[in-house]
Amino acid sequence: MNAINKLELNPDSAIDSKAFRQALGNFATGVTIMTAQNSVGERVGVTANSFNSVSLDPALILWSIDKNSSSFKTFSEATHFAVNILSAAQIDLSNKFAKRGEDKFLGVDFHVGAGAAPLLKNCSANFECEKFSIVDGGDHWIILGKVVQLHDHGRSPLLYHQGAYSTVLPHPSLNMQAKPGEDVFPGRLYDNMYYLLTQAVRAYQNDYQPKQLASGFRTSEARLLLVLESKTATSKCDLLREVAMPSREIEQATEILAQKGLLIDTGDCYTLTERGKECAFMLYKIAESHQEEVFAQYTEQEHELFKRMLKDLIGL
Ligand SMILES: Cc1cc2nc3c(=O)[nH]c(=O)nc-3n(C[C@H](O)[C@H](O)[C@H](O)COP(=O)(O)O)c2cc1C
Repeated sequence: MNAINKLELNPDSAIDSKAFRQALGNFATGVTIMTAQNSVGERVGVTANSFNSVSLDPALILWSIDKNSSSFKTFSEATHFAVNILSAAQIDLSNKFAKRGEDKFLGVDFHVGAGAAPLLKNCSANFECEKFSIVDGGDHWIILGKVVQLHDHGRSPLLYHQGAYSTVLPHPSLNMQAKPGEDVFPGRLYDNMYYLLTQAVRAYQNDYQPKQLASGFRTSEARLLLVLESKTATSKCDLLREVAMPSREIEQATEILAQKGLLIDTGDCYTLTERGKECAFMLYKIAESHQEEVFAQYTEQEHELFKRMLKDLIGL
């Protein structure tokens, strides 16, 4: 491993770090858990979305770790580390490894990789890396690794966008408009239910999202208001599961909503104020009127059949 490089940064940075982090949230990423074990058996794992590829030959990757992370010492001591690229079903694991101070590996399934770095099961991919170098990057250390072994499982990945977890859907770039005299849905693709479902969701979302954003709430804030209004979450733990956001994002969004007088932190959970309820109601109205607009041409019976088919597919 090369020596740690020191880098002097301009201390007079004019960029507000909160606003910077929020703007960076527009760059959708995957989610990884970086793991390592040192020579005395201390094991660490950190949820990280700063992962990126660097070089194909040699095979190099990088990620950055907060200088305040209690896990950094072990990463700096270990000869190897592993990159575990999370699959869409691994939100709980992402949240577990994003929290300091508990035994993060308790109840977690893993194999042991190069240099004893834990390789988590059911991921989209795992990379076993030899530590290549550590570079000073402001308030983070940039850790470079040389990939010595890879495991490509190809499972659909967990994504992270604007502070909320997300999943991949195919892009609706194919032209669905029929030319005169042609079938509306030419070809086999258009008979495929999965293809049609994903395209329908994208098309629906494309028209709906600008309406929700026009309410003045960010996606994460709107999600919180809607979940809190539905009263399905009775604790902060429930909320973490239902809102599909990491706890630090929930904390940030709830802080903003509390400042606006829309919710109160009750210790165990959060409750909406009267104004908060009105805002949630307004968001529901936007969702409902969009739904009415989209399905206006169908009968009540068709609505019910469509809902039943969707619920059957979901398994409700
Ligand atoms: C989606 C997501 C991405 C994160 N990305 C990073 C990252 O790239 N680097 C980092 O240092 N922390 C990142 N964190 C925060 C760390 O996971 C968290 O601070 C760390 O696990 C704290 O534990 P530790 O002090 O035991 O290391 C991220 C958290 C989440 C939820």
